[in-house]
Amino acid sequence: MWYQDTASTPGPTLGGAGMLNLPATGNPFGRTARMSDKPHGLGRNTSNYGDRDFALYLRRSFAKSMGYSQRMLDKPVVGIADTASDYNNCHRTVPELIEAVRRGVLSEGALPLGFPTVSLCEPSLSPCSMHYRNLMALDTEAMLSAQPMDAAVLVGGCDKTVPAQLMAAISADIPAVMLVTGPMLAQAFEGERLSACTDCRRYWARYRAGEVTAERIGELEGKLATTAGTCGVMGTASTMACIAATLGFMPLAGASAPAVHADRLRIAEEAGAQAVRLIKNPIRPSQMMTQGNLDNAVRVLLALGGSTNAVVHLAAIAGRAGLSLDLKRLDALSEETPVLVDLKPTGEGYMEDFHAAGGMRALLWELRDLLDLTTIDLDGVSLADRIGDGSHFVDRRIIRAFAEPVSPVGGLVALFGSLAPEGAILKRSAATPSLFETEARCMVFDGLEDLANRIDDPELDVTAQDILVLKYAGPRSPSGMPEAGYLPIPKKLARAGVKDMVRMSDCRMSGTAFGTIVLHIAPEAAVGGPLALVQTGDRIRLSVKDRKLDLLVAEDEMARRRAAWQPAPAPKRGWDKLVYDQVTQAPLGADLAFLRAAP
Ligand code: FES
Repeated sequence: MWYQDTASTPGPTLGGAGMLNLPATGNPFGRTARMSDKPHGLGRNTSNYGDRDFALYLRRSFAKSMGYSQRMLDKPVVGIADTASDYNNCHRTVPELIEAVRRGVLSEGALPLGFPTVSLCEPSLSPCSMHYRNLMALDTEAMLSAQPMDAAVLVGGCDKTVPAQLMAAISADIPAVMLVTGPMLAQAFEGERLSACTDCRRYWARYRAGEVTAERIGELEGKLATTAGTCGVMGTASTMACIAATLGFMPLAGASAPAVHADRLRIAEEAGAQAVRLIKNPIRPSQMMTQGNLDNAVRVLLALGGSTNAVVHLAAIAGRAGLSLDLKRLDALSEETPVLVDLKPTGEGYMEDFHAAGGMRALLWELRDLLDLTTIDLDGVSLADRIGDGSHFVDRRIIRAFAEPVSPVGGLVALFGSLAPEGAILKRSAATPSLFETEARCMVFDGLEDLANRIDDPELDVTAQDILVLKYAGPRSPSGMPEAGYLPIPKKLARAGVKDMVRMSDCRMSGTAFGTIVLHIAPEAAVGGPLALVQTGDRIRLSVKDRKLDLLVAEDEMARRRAAWQPAPAPKRGWDKLVYDQVTQAPLGADLAFLRAAP
């Protein structure tokens, strides 16, 4: 095998006077210089100046300026996508993870080469991180394709990074191992465990309601996220890590091991070693992304009571593989997939509890009768073999038995109707059942600016029975589909004790949020969907039982409003323009249309 052959290629030595001696083969380029060989390592993807040997000579000359020996440059290459950033607290541990990945790569005889990509942290980006998920995917895909590497390790973690990297790996279709930074730990503060970010939202809601003082909320600010890692609940980051593990892009324990646990570094080392195994026995993302595997991912999302954002991300990931995530199918799977995991925001525990309770292996074992067990991971191992024989430890307080679920049906439902002809999503596991069948008048906000300006106006004509509607916050809007669907309860109602209201929009909500909240309404207002035509005082009917979301306005009145509707001016340049021109609606993953694969 060539990767073993290269290990025996004579490397350079330092002569007595510190001079570099060439290998005894007499070939100054080493083994990869011969273009008649199948290119590997640094020999891949050379520029073409009309003289390929010169292109490689040039590449190796510059690589040698970094002090690599000939022996190292002859090895196969594992590229490592480095997403460390001073703007990304969730990726604080990436440097030490990459050191561990390098260890794993070197131990298996390959050369690790790190490279930076766009890095996205939820609270650090304007208008929102979702607006840049596709940029990160495009950047990562381009670097995976352009740079010489035989396999890759992609180090992600924060919400948008894992879907972006999966989208990139599938489109580039190179063997790639996912590694996440892992969840932060919940820490006790005055007798209560706290972690980002369900507790952030819970306390902020209490502050708005006047139940928590400004002094107390300031004190809590430093107690909510106290270790390295991603949000410590079953939010988007954790949900996407569990999905990546289900799809086979990382080992099952890799989804939940805490960021600061020593296991996290061992998982990183193993990711490096696994990438080298992939060079020897390449399994490409296109071989893994089957309809059965996509269904498995949806089942896991439902059983986790996972983030609504994962629906959009999975639709985008599926689209890169020529598959589609049909909302009606999601709804059907939700009817037969129980919620088995008791974590915030829908339950009580934190990610460290899920890990200690048995994690993904225990969950998949419970779900086994619903799963396609023939799907394979990066090592070619079937899901049946990955989950084993059921002899593992399980803490039933966190991971319930299939027969004794947290809820007998899945956490998400898809809604359709005259307000959402292409669909919308509701996380019923985090909602108030008494609001599931609601018909009421609505209070409409024309975008986030309008929402911020008026929501706390004491004169706002709103009651707890009304429906709050936010429009112009979808993927094509200037706000880029932010996590603003968790509309604040108007302060005057919050102070009167109102904890939940029906709220709806074309944007998303954080995976750590909760409430009776309809999201991802499609088509969105910015493209002229029915949502654009809703006016304050209209009546809307929500029926979770019938999966319906209807705007109760006569058709002739809708036609009159439609004729008067004008889109907002298009952005003129840059990334905003590309998004405006290309972004798809939420049911297609809010991906850029030209990046989706043919079915
Ligand atoms: Fe990064 Fe929550 S802010 S995972």
